[in-house]
Amino acid sequence: MQKVMVCATKSEYFVHIGKGLLSDLGNISKDAAGGNKVMLISDDRVFPLWGEVAVKSLKDAGYEVFTFTFPNGEQSKTPETLIEILNSIAQYNLHRDDIIVALGGGVVGDISGLAAALYQRGIGFVSVPTTLLAMVDSSVGGKTAVDLPCGKNLCGAFWQPKAVVCDTNTLSTLTDEIFACGMAEVIKYGMIDSKELFDDICKNDIRSCPEDAIKKCVEIKAKIVNEDEFDTGIRAILNFGHTLGHSVEMLSDFSIPHGEGVAIGMSAVTLACEKKGICPVGTHEVLVDALKMYSLPYTSPFSLNAVCEHCKGDKKMSGKGLSLITIEEIGNAKIHTIPFENLLEFMEDAREVFA
Ligand SMILES: NC(=O)c1ccc[n+]([C@@H]2O[C@H](COP(=O)([O-])OP(=O)(O)OC[C@H]3O[C@@H](n4cnc5c(N)ncnc54)[C@H](O)[C@@H]3O)[C@@H](O)[C@H]2O)c1
Repeated sequence: MQKVMVCATKSEYFVHIGKGLLSDLGNISKDAAGGNKVMLISDDRVFPLWGEVAVKSLKDAGYEVFTFTFPNGEQSKTPETLIEILNSIAQYNLHRDDIIVALGGGVVGDISGLAAALYQRGIGFVSVPTTLLAMVDSSVGGKTAVDLPCGKNLCGAFWQPKAVVCDTNTLSTLTDEIFACGMAEVIKYGMIDSKELFDDICKNDIRSCPEDAIKKCVEIKAKIVNEDEFDTGIRAILNFGHTLGHSVEMLSDFSIPHGEGVAIGMSAVTLACEKKGICPVGTHEVLVDALKMYSLPYTSPFSLNAVCEHCKGDKKMSGKGLSLITIEEIGNAKIHTIPFENLLEFMEDAREVFA
């Protein structure tokens, strides 16, 4: 088992990474968060697969366990589901020293974290991510949210977990497509912060042995979050490829999943950087090889103009402009704030990536 510490302003917690850790969930939760009652929140795909072992472990550690499951997928990440969860927690009379455990991907983690932040003005929360994306990204850093009709993640709070438990056995039941979406984020960490990680994941397909790569990604995210917990500066670097990626996702009406959008966004920005001499010639080709290795796309089915136009609605765009993350070389990225009007001009050199 490997452990990474995350330091937030008001708390510190460990991310535990290893095979079979679900059966230790109860003990880890007791040590990190205490409490007598647990509301285990999951979705209707994950709970039948991994719920039983989680519930048993929590009961063995002495918890009284209640469960709440909702239909899987982003369409459940709504204020309505959140209210149902809060009502259920209240109905079972959980107190402030009891805890919520989130068992699932980023959707379950985000909505459960927000429920924990809100219930009685905040109760303890243990995150058990079961997708690669949730292990390397959404479970670390304390961002919680639900979507509003006007956009994704518009209603949320910063609320740090007491512990994160990544049982890598749970990844065995993921579809190839969902695993690949997590790989887009792993490749992102390599591109922005670690050539060593990037080289490692290009040498061997990590699916059968993902622990080291997950640990490295969590260390990078923890380092960035420790520096900028509330996302006012350096944390923006985690958005490499995301602004264009979100546009592609939205233009496809979400038939292109998040990870694939990010892969296309990374490819486009890297090519633009290369053509402008910001990163060495050949960087884009190396990235594309990595994306191909994990069955991720690197070209957009939408035009450059349509994708850039859609970026206007991105919530990462502040009054000062849009945060554009550029690559200087693999393992080294920089944040630039540019006026929205300059995005199309910057991306012009990467027109060949677009339809
Ligand atoms: N809080 C953050 O910092 C942060 C960061 C990145 C993404 N996110 C959010 O994360 C969400 C995306 O996360 P996701 O990709 O994990 O999506 P998800 O939670 O919808 O999971 C994807 C699918 O995989 C299924 N699944 C999950 N674990 C499984 C397993 N072990 N075996 C079989 N099926 C399994 C789910 O039921 C779902 O159908 C988005 O809502 C996004 O906004 C949050």
